[in-house]
Amino acid sequence: MLETLNAQPQDKILQLIAMYRDDPRSTKIDLGVGVYKDATGLTPVMRAVKAAEKTLWETEKTKTYTGLAGEPAYNAAMVAMILGGAHGDRAASVATPGGTGAIRQALELIKLSNPGATVWLSNPTWPNHPSIIKYLGMKMAEYRYFDAASGEVDFAGMLADLDRVAPGDVVLLHGCCHNPTGANLTMDQWGQVVGLLLQKRVIPFVDLAYQGFGDGLEEDAAATRLIADTFPEVLIAASCSKNFGIYRERTGILIALTSADRKAVVQGNLNFLNRQNYSFPPDHGARLVTMILEDAALRADWQAELEEVRQNMLTLRQTLSDELRKATNSDRFDFVARHRGMFSRLGLTEAQVNVLREKHGIYMVGDSRINIAGLNARTVPILAAAIASVI
Ligand SMILES: Cc1ncc(COP(=O)(O)O)c(C=O)c1O
Repeated sequence: MLETLNAQPQDKILQLIAMYRDDPRSTKIDLGVGVYKDATGLTPVMRAVKAAEKTLWETEKTKTYTGLAGEPAYNAAMVAMILGGAHGDRAASVATPGGTGAIRQALELIKLSNPGATVWLSNPTWPNHPSIIKYLGMKMAEYRYFDAASGEVDFAGMLADLDRVAPGDVVLLHGCCHNPTGANLTMDQWGQVVGLLLQKRVIPFVDLAYQGFGDGLEEDAAATRLIADTFPEVLIAASCSKNFGIYRERTGILIALTSADRKAVVQGNLNFLNRQNYSFPPDHGARLVTMILEDAALRADWQAELEEVRQNMLTLRQTLSDELRKATNSDRFDFVARHRGMFSRLGLTEAQVNVLREKHGIYMVGDSRINIAGLNARTVPILAAAIASVI
């Protein structure tokens, strides 16, 4: 049987990680992999997570199965953090293995309820979106999103393409900190997108993987909340990997907003999907998140550290933008300071990206996406000088 399998194409980012690992140069710089790193290159365990883990170790008495949809306290705390205390009465939800698990379950739910629906993705988007949709055999289409020349959102193109969606289609939107571009809609633009999509009678599907990494914990949820306040049905796939720094614990949630009287049926379907795919969702990360969100002192400390992380990335953005101004003698890369989240797409050609890697030991994704958190005060001028030398 297994001899019938064909080799799968290699994941480009995993390939890049391997190339970086095998590069013997001590001066090499990794701007590829999508994890937060501090100035020393470490992806730290957050203080509140450590404290919660200690308490959990001391107090946990059993590791028996938990709820099929996750621990109700986790789901409630996450729904409250994302939706600011509203919509609890119409929110069905399941804990999932990371944000990826939530995306997968959301797509399966779409397939279960409307197999003919087309899922619209921003061009570009996180490569796992089209990959999972293709694997599930679902229909997909793209809407324009990024203007490579300006480094900003191609808003006119986005609206023109979203004007073509059909009733019942699903439109996947990055709630904040767009990956891979770093370019985001203003709240005014979100208002226009929401108005158009409401008129088109589509189902918005929000991927919220970086709440707290852009403009702040509340600010980064603003678009998701606007969508939740406007549409009768909304899917939200959220991840705790980045904002709690618990990548390997696989902690996420899928929220399906519906009417209060449909909630029980939708919840039953979410439970069913968890049961089919992995039965009970992972618990350790979810339990830590619940402990942090429910305890005032732990929550305050977590938010303070998350804010340090956010400010660190903003400082790196500003210094990189300033250094690129000096090195290139132009304002071409000013958008780096305006972008939000962990990533920025620089608008370099693949050939330029290759020279940066081969000649300068600077590793970024082929589409010129950089992870801002891969930089520090020492490497920012090195990157700026190298970019100036290849353009
Ligand atoms: C846009 C986007 N969505 C979802 C995820 C899911 O992350 P995880 O499954 O690690 O929680 C990521 C992670 O890189 C992401 O960038």
